[in-house]
Amino acid sequence: MKFGSQMEIGFIEPSEADVVRIYEDYRMCNEPDSPVIPFASLAEERRLKIAARLKVIERIVLLDKEKAGFITIVDEEAGFNFGFGLFKEFRGRGLMARIIRAAGVYLKVHCQGKPVTAATRKENTAAIRSLLAGGFVQIGYETKPPCGTYAGPVEYVTFKWNRDVFD
Ligand SMILES: CC(C)(COP(=O)(O)OP(=O)(O)OC[C@H]1O[C@@H](n2cnc3c(N)ncnc32)[C@H](O)[C@@H]1OP(=O)(O)O)[C@@H](O)C(=O)NCCC(=O)NCCS
Repeated sequence: MKFGSQMEIGFIEPSEADVVRIYEDYRMCNEPDSPVIPFASLAEERRLKIAARLKVIERIVLLDKEKAGFITIVDEEAGFNFGFGLFKEFRGRGLMARIIRAAGVYLKVHCQGKPVTAATRKENTAAIRSLLAGGFVQIGYETKPPCGTYAGPVEYVTFKWNRDVFD
């Protein structure tokens, strides 16, 4: 079976094309913080700025060497914020929970002793279940003001990475 129990999971720096794929994929998700304007329609200066930032905060997820999605690690000084997404054709198979568990090894090295947190929309059951199965624990709720395509305030569930899972 494709992506069976022996599946190899890797994390690599995105190429220029990957950066556009990540941007466009997340734009199509219509999450509260999804970009609205297509990458190709942005001014060149903006495209370069976004590409440079995504190269720093994003890592492409390789499943048996196939590019399947991305994880995002943002340094917020007090700690790191963790985000993630699977490209459309890879969703609905419980893969992200396994990816998040595998990312634990990567997080340990990358984030040193600092806390790692994540937040997802209250209605995003797939993301919530993936985080819980991947080694995060729920710490609370948070309401963020309107942003992106969302008209009203958005409620999020907040999580903290339980690094003990990997000790
Ligand atoms: C969120 C995301 C990464 C989840 O990836 P996935 O591995 O394909 O997740 P699945 O669809 O297999 O769902 C995971 C679990 O949630 C359950 N689930 C999914 N949608 C559900 C729903 N609407 N109601 C109840 N359970 C649901 C699945 O049955 C599965 O259950 P399990 O834990 O028993 O296996 C993927 O949907 C994605 O990339 N979405 C777009 C980007 C995004 O939302 N990123 C997160 C932003 S914080």
